[in-house]
Amino acid sequence: MEYFTTTSAASRRASGCIIVGVYQRGKLGVAATDIDAASGGTISKLIKRGDISASPGSCSVLTTVAGVKAQRIAVVGLGNISKFDIAEYRRAVSSAINAVKGCKTEDIVNYLTLEKVGDASAYYLARYAIETIGNALYNFTEMKSGRKKSTSKLRKVGLAIASRSDAAKSARGSEHADGIVEGMTLCRDLGNLPPNVCTPTYLARTAQRLARQHKKLDTRVLNEAEMKRLGMHALLSVTAGAKEPAKLIVMQYKGAVRQQPVVLVGKGVTFDSGGISLKPGPGMDEMKFDMCGAASVIGTMATVARLKLPINLTVVVPTCENMPSSTATRPGDIVTSMSGQTIEVLNTDAEGRLILCDALTYSKRFKPALMIDVATLTGACVIALGHHRTAVMSRDNKIAGSITDAGMAADDRSWHMPLDDEYARQLRSNFADFANIGGRDGGAVTAACFLSKFTDGVDWAHLDIAGTAWHSGTRKGATGRPVPMLTELLLSRAGVLP
Ligand code: BES
Ligand code: MN
Ligand code: ZN
Repeated sequence: MEYFTTTSAASRRASGCIIVGVYQRGKLGVAATDIDAASGGTISKLIKRGDISASPGSCSVLTTVAGVKAQRIAVVGLGNISKFDIAEYRRAVSSAINAVKGCKTEDIVNYLTLEKVGDASAYYLARYAIETIGNALYNFTEMKSGRKKSTSKLRKVGLAIASRSDAAKSARGSEHADGIVEGMTLCRDLGNLPPNVCTPTYLARTAQRLARQHKKLDTRVLNEAEMKRLGMHALLSVTAGAKEPAKLIVMQYKGAVRQQPVVLVGKGVTFDSGGISLKPGPGMDEMKFDMCGAASVIGTMATVARLKLPINLTVVVPTCENMPSSTATRPGDIVTSMSGQTIEVLNTDAEGRLILCDALTYSKRFKPALMIDVATLTGACVIALGHHRTAVMSRDNKIAGSITDAGMAADDRSWHMPLDDEYARQLRSNFADFANIGGRDGGAVTAACFLSKFTDGVDWAHLDIAGTAWHSGTRKGATGRPVPMLTELLLSRAGVLP
């Protein structure tokens, strides 16, 4: 996709399609006002006739309007002007794209950037628009037979700016968004692929392919024998029942000299059956998404490498299947983690923390400036926060705050949850140093407490994305979250935000 900015008036822009908006009570947006004047009141007339709706999410496509150079005008409803915010802005862009993506138009100019959207800058208006367009154009047809559904013809996206002084900010916003879309697309593809295709080996190959594409990126993959030598018996206990070999993927991006890296660790359970503590049948297919933490950190790495950010980033992905078999780990088994701490596995379905704890211990060798693990870790997180916000846990309130702030700015929101010592008592074991479960109460927090035992002396945060990584039902599919939030944090550390 190509991007450009334009200061030309909507009516004079020769383009395949322009996006303009109308508010409720007959109030026209900036570009709609211009189009209306140039076309002898066409828009106002159509609103009066009821052919154009101002309700949020609606879109009417007008073609060959006299006095207007563009071939199509996507007129979107913006709702109540006093309630027009980032969410409505993104919804409007999305409905315009959905309305015209079937047409042959190769270029489109978004004029909604001229509206007042809260206090969002030209940079963020560009970013949200390009991200929204990228996600609206996404489709996953890889596994369909026959002719694949034709993808959109859209090649160029323009963003209107009020003055030349916004050009650089808008351009940077589209550049960053383009990188984010690339990372989210990879994240969504990996999540959506079936578990018989997206295996640990497939994830490892994907990471190696990325390294071939980017000079500053290096990928290493550890096999089970190497993990055994490192003493990763917690991780290995999860893969014990599976034929499919487990991997530990390590990706290192060096965009800066002599700087401690940010380390992102992603849970990569390519299928979570629960193991011997088998999950119930209905909906079990969705446990192919149990590698979305891995997908999101690999996706974020793709974004960072694509944008050539001047930072050091390391991604560590422990990946395996969680399967029942006669060689599988039993409830009651005690394993020794790489840290030396022993764990009583009371429930083999609490496997994410078992692979993450060894990956976290391993990651300490990179002397991280900041370490964040990302995981579809607990059903309890979905009970606590639902599907809108990712949970953030950290011993350090400043780190948690910087992550929730990044989520707000990126419009990929999260919520700071507690991580007090009191919760950790629920993990007590009569036989080992501690157990891998802490009971139903506060399950998302006790899971974080478990991980916390492996991150001593490190600036660390844990993200539980169980509620935000994928949609269920008719929209079933990976969301690409939290790639935007993680990228925002890294853009900010790189000092490249305007
Ligand atoms: N991958 C699941 C968590 C999960 C469940 C995410 C449903 C999204 C939707 C994780 O491995 C798991 O099974 N967790 C258990 C932990 C419990 C046994 C302490 C859970 O949440 O039930
Ligand atoms: Mn599980
Ligand atoms: Zn799991």
